[in-house]
Amino acid sequence: MIIAVDGPAASGKGTIGRALAEHYGLPHLDTGLLYRAVGIAVLRHGGNPENHADAVKACDFSTAMLDDPEIRSEAASRAASAVSAHKDVRAALLERQRAFARQPGGAVLDGRDIGTVIAPEADAKLFVTASPAVRAERRFAELTKRGVHVMLDHVLHDIEARDARDSGRSVAPLIQAPDADLLDTTNLTIGDAVRQAISLVEAQVKP
Ligand code: CDP
Ligand code: CDP
Repeated sequence: MIIAVDGPAASGKGTIGRALAEHYGLPHLDTGLLYRAVGIAVLRHGGNPENHADAVKACDFSTAMLDDPEIRSEAASRAASAVSAHKDVRAALLERQRAFARQPGGAVLDGRDIGTVIAPEADAKLFVTASPAVRAERRFAELTKRGVHVMLDHVLHDIEARDARDSGRSVAPLIQAPDADLLDTTNLTIGDAVRQAISLVEAQVKP
């Protein structure tokens, strides 16, 4: 069984993806980490994430990068959003994600284009959203808990800028697949969001 979970930043797709993976005993891939790894690899080489050649060169990042603490930083988020708009970067990361999705037994993947590009054949698809204000509060709480000093309005601004870029790009834009169920987590606790996600998946796999 392949489960695709897409949605904008801090909508809860990672939390839901992990919970679904645990519930069904499937492996889980947070595909944002791959774009974040390319983003920080560009920054470390003194490159510019907007520059096509710099971004493509960074696609051969080492797997150790995925465990780098900086991968969760807001700088990595911005760099990831910039590198991910290059068609050749998306192409370089495609096979790795498809192979993960198509492993025997299946998998859960979360990202922006899982249900549309990586695994259009997925057995279940969710598009997770929440209002920008709530998403900014969630990301702010996460960063604050990690001891990162940020201002809530900067986090909101970053989230809105990333939403616009991710939804507006020409290749694999952030968009709800026609056969995905919408799950709005604005007013949901994590527990309720996960329970609703499981019922939506159940309904899709057993029509
Ligand atoms: O956790 P959060 O939603 O903040 O970000 P993420 O999922 O780690 O993704 C970081 C950036 O990578 C996004 O803003 C997208 O631009 C890009 N991304 C993408 O283009 N396609 C994916 N499947 C996953 C992430
Ligand atoms: O993966 P994505 O960036 O979409 O979001 P996430 O990492 O799953 O969730 C972002 C933050 O919001 C985490 O700290 C979650 O614990 C929290 N969250 C929440 O407060 N309520 C929800 N219904 C879902 C997530």
